[in-house]
Amino acid sequence: MLTIRGVLLERQAIAQRVEALGRQIAADLQAEGDRLQARGQTPGPIVMVPVLTGALVFTADLIRAMGVKMSIRPVTLSSYPGKSTTSQGVTVQGGVPTDLAGARVVIVDDILDSGRTLGLLRRLISAQNPQSVRLAVLLDKQKAAGRDEDVSVEYAGFVIADEFVVGYGLDFDGYYRNLPDICTMHDDGRPEA
Ligand code: IMP
Ligand code: MG
Repeated sequence: MLTIRGVLLERQAIAQRVEALGRQIAADLQAEGDRLQARGQTPGPIVMVPVLTGALVFTADLIRAMGVKMSIRPVTLSSYPGKSTTSQGVTVQGGVPTDLAGARVVIVDDILDSGRTLGLLRRLISAQNPQSVRLAVLLDKQKAAGRDEDVSVEYAGFVIADEFVVGYGLDFDGYYRNLPDICTMHDDGRPEA
């Protein structure tokens, strides 16, 4: 049975990093807009695409540090059904926008792990001919053996070791998302109740 072991990233550290990330993404979008305009092109609308449910908390804080005009189009994908702590393959559960041609898209997820979720989403979105696509993740989980899909992200809040974490949006079996800190878990070897 998995229980909380300890705090890996404290709320203050998360808040500071997320605010810096939001400002950086906004500055990059602003610079991109200026570049496009200098070339006589019109910058496309900024569309944030958070991956539910894990990116809920991160996105709420990130967008409030951005201060640019944007819309938000959440998508629902799932790769860790129920009590699994390793990726079981991604399923699209709905809501992937199909009208992103010409938009400047920022895909937001809680964590980059096997790479399947963000790999799939980047392909689905890039196929629509957006003006640009960026990926922002709060956590970049190091994988010694490499990822199933080699995805590169433009923005990552923290690089963490390859262990299962919960809190600040991340869940185990749907729970713990509301923990303000990001915590590691302990497995006592007994089956889940
Ligand atoms: P990927 O497709 O394997 O890269 O997995 C990404 C998704 O799996 C994330 O959006 C999370 O919802 C979930 N996930 C991956 N690692 C963890 C973890 O350590 N804790 C909780 N959820 C995780
Ligand atoms: Mg999850």
